[in-house]
Amino acid sequence: MKHEAGFLLSLFITFEGVEGSGKTTQIQRLKKYLTRKGISCKITREPGGCPISEKVRKILLDPDHRGMVPLSELFLYEAARAQHVEEVIIPFLKKGGMVLCDRFSDASIAYQGHGRGVDLAWVERLNRLSSQSIKPDITFLLDCPSTVGLKRALRRNQAAGNERQDRFEREKIDFHHRVRRGYLSLAKREPRRVKVIDTRQGEEKVFEKIRKIVDELIVRSSEFGVP
Ligand code: TYD
Repeated sequence: MKHEAGFLLSLFITFEGVEGSGKTTQIQRLKKYLTRKGISCKITREPGGCPISEKVRKILLDPDHRGMVPLSELFLYEAARAQHVEEVIIPFLKKGGMVLCDRFSDASIAYQGHGRGVDLAWVERLNRLSSQSIKPDITFLLDCPSTVGLKRALRRNQAAGNERQDRFEREKIDFHHRVRRGYLSLAKREPRRVKVIDTRQGEEKVFEKIRKIVDELIVRSSEFGVP
């Protein structure tokens, strides 16, 4: 993690992708793998990750909140992030742990910026503010066509006995196309940080790629003499 204060170089890894891209499965696999290697890591998520932000999450995803305007939505995501970064992410990184976060600032660029059309420069400024300028060391963008992901998300909801789609899953397909394009353009802009992995190759292969990149990152970090 890069931070002005320059404390311990602990690792901050984020996972992004369109709905139903399989982030949760991959994060859990990675945690298991790292724990076996003796590395202390924590899974967390946005919006959420701590009690206040989990409450904000409920407001954000509630399908009854159809009338939420893009700016309220953006501010709520940023509010949830500010709390989560201060209360969970920074303290864990300071202790020398590895944070695996299901979505982070890039999601605001893709969803509120590209998806909803909020001015990107504003989203970037608010992201910097709410995240205290911390940036992930690596971001895995689990990518698949929006239609494939949405179908998967729907099946997952049904399997969990949850017939109610959240506010985002209910969005029109054009919205999801814009979000995906937004993510892909972020990856083009920051190819060293954002690693695009096509999820259509199946869970095993996706995990192999993630594992390889994380192993390299760990070696690189230790070469700099940081625990
Ligand atoms: P998530 O729990 O990752 O949903 P899923 O597992 O179904 O992919 O994220 C919840 C929703 O919040 C998701 O639709 C993306 C959206 N989101 C934003 O619009 N902006 C943000 O900044 C974040 C973090 C998430």
